[in-house]
Amino acid sequence: GCKNNSTATNGATGSTILVGEYGSLTGAQASFGISTNDAIQLATDQINAKGGIKGKKVVVKVEDDMGQPAQAATDVNHLIDDGAIAILGEVASSCSLAGGRVCQQRHIPMISPSSTNTAVTELGDYIFRVCFIDPFQAAVVARFAHDGLHATRVAIFTNKDQAYSTGFSENFKKAFTAMGGQIVIEKSYSSTDTDFRGALTAIKQANPQAILIPGYYNDAGSIARQARALGITCPLLGGDGWDSQDLFKTGGSAVNGCYFSDHLSIDDPSPRVRAFVTAFEAKYHHKPDALAALGYDAANLLFNAMERAPSLKPEDIRNAIAATKNFPGVTGNITINAQRNADKPAVIIKVENGKFRLAATITNPYAP
Ligand code: PHE
Repeated sequence: GCKNNSTATNGATGSTILVGEYGSLTGAQASFGISTNDAIQLATDQINAKGGIKGKKVVVKVEDDMGQPAQAATDVNHLIDDGAIAILGEVASSCSLAGGRVCQQRHIPMISPSSTNTAVTELGDYIFRVCFIDPFQAAVVARFAHDGLHATRVAIFTNKDQAYSTGFSENFKKAFTAMGGQIVIEKSYSSTDTDFRGALTAIKQANPQAILIPGYYNDAGSIARQARALGITCPLLGGDGWDSQDLFKTGGSAVNGCYFSDHLSIDDPSPRVRAFVTAFEAKYHHKPDALAALGYDAANLLFNAMERAPSLKPEDIRNAIAATKNFPGVTGNITINAQRNADKPAVIIKVENGKFRLAATITNPYAP
């Protein structure tokens, strides 16, 4: 990016506030970026309808990183050059790591709605998230495999190109073995792989009672299909990366009877979730997913922090985000902790006849 862009303006002067957003609007994780962007737009419409922030209208400028970390870094530089005083994004942890590095270096606060890899907020004091982290999420899946499925023998199949996937697998292994479970085999693949049959054949021979596949929905769907074709019938387990209606495009009926951890069930009867789902459906004519709920929470938490901040200097916004306590999010009450993460319960979703159903809510996976 061109950091010395002479046309760059401070995003808080004048009558508007410029917020930058980066995400995968195209590419293999497109549903993540689109869903998050839809929700951020909704939150922006709502805040502007209420008069904006400190009397200023909020403008969100979005850039498509195509799910590629190098592009994510370029996009974030562009957004800051354009005058963005805060950044929303990314979903995929590898992209948040690349974009977050830029925000930290340039001292512009960033809130990731949904990146769960621990390293993201460890980038520094300007980097926040509104979701839980993978040591917790992976322990939730381990607890469910152990107590809910009574599995003691689990195989792991990791996407070695995604920080999310490698971190998830590591954390699952730790948690599951601490519970007395055994990892019978570990295999990995690359984002560009399309034929998983070699690895799946080895996994089948290890005779697991469940297989952990902490990849994104597009990977998980095709792996599930090939696993079923090879005669693997055990449940497949995933994390929040499975949350997309596009899971059914690649997975079809092969993902039925599988489970994944997530941030919320969109069918949650609580008034906050219902109000969000109603507003989202009115604007977009389809149901939101967990990504949308987290995108909405990230945007609203940022807007709330900007309102509370003594000024719209990035440093003041940063401090206000860090001080957030009990913010009423759609995904739960959000308190930003000392590590700039949010502690929240997770749910286990069961895939059943092409639908997502709530199977369990887990607050403390460490206690039996
Ligand atoms: N947690 C995933 C990551 O860190 C992203 C994700 C969140 C995907 C929620 C789907 C739903 O990469």
